[in-house]
Amino acid sequence: MTYSVVVKGGNVITPAGAFVGDIGISGEKITALGEDLDAKGATVIDARGHHVLPGVLDVHVHLELPFCGTVSADDYRSGTRAAARGGVTTVIDFAIPPAGGTLNDAADIWMKKAEGKSLIDYTFHICITKFAEHKDQIKGMVERGFTTFKEFMIYESEGWQSDDRALYGTLEKMREYGTMLLVHAESARVLDELIARHHTPEMMKKFGARLHAMTRPNFVEAEAIQRAVQWSEATGGQLYIVHMSTAEGTDIIRAAQGRGVPVIAETCVQYLVLDDSVFGREDGHLFACCPQLKKPADSRRLWEGLHRGEVSVISTDTCTFNREQKAMWEGDWTKIPMGMPGLETLLPLTYTKGVLEGRLTLEEMCMKLSTNPAKIMGLYPRKGAIMVGADADLAIIHPNRTHEVNPSKMETNADWSPFEGWDLAGFSRTTLSRGDVIVDDYKVVGKAGRGRWLPRTTAGLAGSNAEPRMSRLSRGPLSPLRTALIESLVSQ
Ligand code: URP
Ligand code: ZN
Ligand code: ZN
Repeated sequence: MTYSVVVKGGNVITPAGAFVGDIGISGEKITALGEDLDAKGATVIDARGHHVLPGVLDVHVHLELPFCGTVSADDYRSGTRAAARGGVTTVIDFAIPPAGGTLNDAADIWMKKAEGKSLIDYTFHICITKFAEHKDQIKGMVERGFTTFKEFMIYESEGWQSDDRALYGTLEKMREYGTMLLVHAESARVLDELIARHHTPEMMKKFGARLHAMTRPNFVEAEAIQRAVQWSEATGGQLYIVHMSTAEGTDIIRAAQGRGVPVIAETCVQYLVLDDSVFGREDGHLFACCPQLKKPADSRRLWEGLHRGEVSVISTDTCTFNREQKAMWEGDWTKIPMGMPGLETLLPLTYTKGVLEGRLTLEEMCMKLSTNPAKIMGLYPRKGAIMVGADADLAIIHPNRTHEVNPSKMETNADWSPFEGWDLAGFSRTTLSRGDVIVDDYKVVGKAGRGRWLPRTTAGLAGSNAEPRMSRLSRGPLSPLRTALIESLVSQ
C-alpha cells in the first residue's frame, strides 16, 4: 500500500492502547497503523521522541459572538489558528438566533461566520432561546444535520434565557429525536437577587471584581444542575451540562448517573487550573467568566470526577474579550464582558497540569479531549481517535518541551492570557487536519477556509432514540465497577 503521508516513530495513542510506530495516511484518512510502514513516495513526518495524539475536539467555543454589549474578539480566522496551534482540529460553536429569528437563521448566520475563514472542521449546537416559537423547528434542524441543542438558564437581558417549561419540553423532544440538550445551569432568580443586593456604589468600591464571585455561591450552579437533571430523569431526554465548575455539581452528576439518568457533564480547563483568588488581583476583572472560577476544592473534585468518570469532557468555553473590551466594566462587575480566551492553551494546560502532574494518564487525557467529545457529539468514528478509517486529524507534541504563554506571540486576538507567564508543555509541534499539515514546527501553515462543516446524525450516549444506555444500569451506590462501566459506555 502507498501513502500520501507517513507519521514515523511516534508514541501513538489509540483506543486500543499506545504503541511506538507509524501512521499511514492516504488523502484525508488514516489507512494504516504499524511498526515499520513503507514510506516510499510519501511525505514523512518524523515523530520520534514525541507523543502522537488524536486531534482535540473543543466542543464549547464562542467565536465572533455578540454578547455583553460587544462582540467576542476571536473570529473563525484567529480562533481556529489558535485552535490548530493548540492541537485542536474540530470546534463546535453555539449558533444563537437573532431577536425574532428562527433556528435556521441561527445556523445560516454561524455558517457564514465560519465559511472562508475556518482553518479546521466545525459544526454548531443550535440554541433554543424562544421555546414557544422554536419548538416546532427542532425536527427540521435535525434533518439539516444538527443533533445538539442548547438552552441557557440565565441571560435574560440577552434574550436567551429558558425557563423550566422550555427545558422540560425540549428534553421531551430530545428523547423523541435521539438528540441531546446542552444546558448552561445557573439559577437565574436567586442570582438576580444576589446581584441586586450587592449592586451598590459602596460595595463596588469596596470589593470590585470580587463581587463576581461573591454573588455566585456554589448553590447557584448546584440548584440549577439538580433541576435540569430532574427534568432529564422525568423525560428520559439526553442532557449535557456545560462548563460545570463546582464540587456540588459533580456530586449531583455522579448520583444521577448512578441511578441511570441520561446526563453527561463537561468541565472547562480554567475550572481545573485557576481559582477565584484571581479576582483580588489588580486586573482581576479580566478573569470574569460565567460561571465564575471557584475554589481549589472545586478544582480537586472536578479532577477526581474526570478520573472516576462522572466528568466526561474538558473544553474551553472560549469567548475572547481583549483588555479594551474588559475595560467596559468601569468598576461595575455586572458590565464586564464575560469570557476568556482558551483554544490555544487547552491541550497544553491539560497535558501539563493533568498528565505531567499525575492527575490523568495520557490515555485518559485523550479520552476527555478527543474520544469522548467525538462520541458524545455524534462525530465518532470520523473524529476523536487514531484508527484506520478515521480522519487524519493529529496533534504531535513533545513530552516535555515547554513554551511560555505570551499573548504577543500567540494566534488569538486576545492581548492578554489568564495563563500569561506560565511554562507549558503540550503545544502542538505538528497538527494535521484531514491529512494536511496545518501547524509545522509550532507555526500555523494551513490556509483559512479549508475547514469544513460536519453534518451529524446522532448525539449523546444512546446515539438514537432508543432507551438511553445508561438507564440500563441498575440502581444502587456507584461502585468503582459501575463507574468504569459508565466510562466504558462513553468509550465504546
Ligand atoms: O463567560 C462565558 N462563559 N461566556 C460565554 C457565554 C457562556 O455562558 O458560555
Ligand atoms: Zn454558558
Ligand atoms: Zn459558553
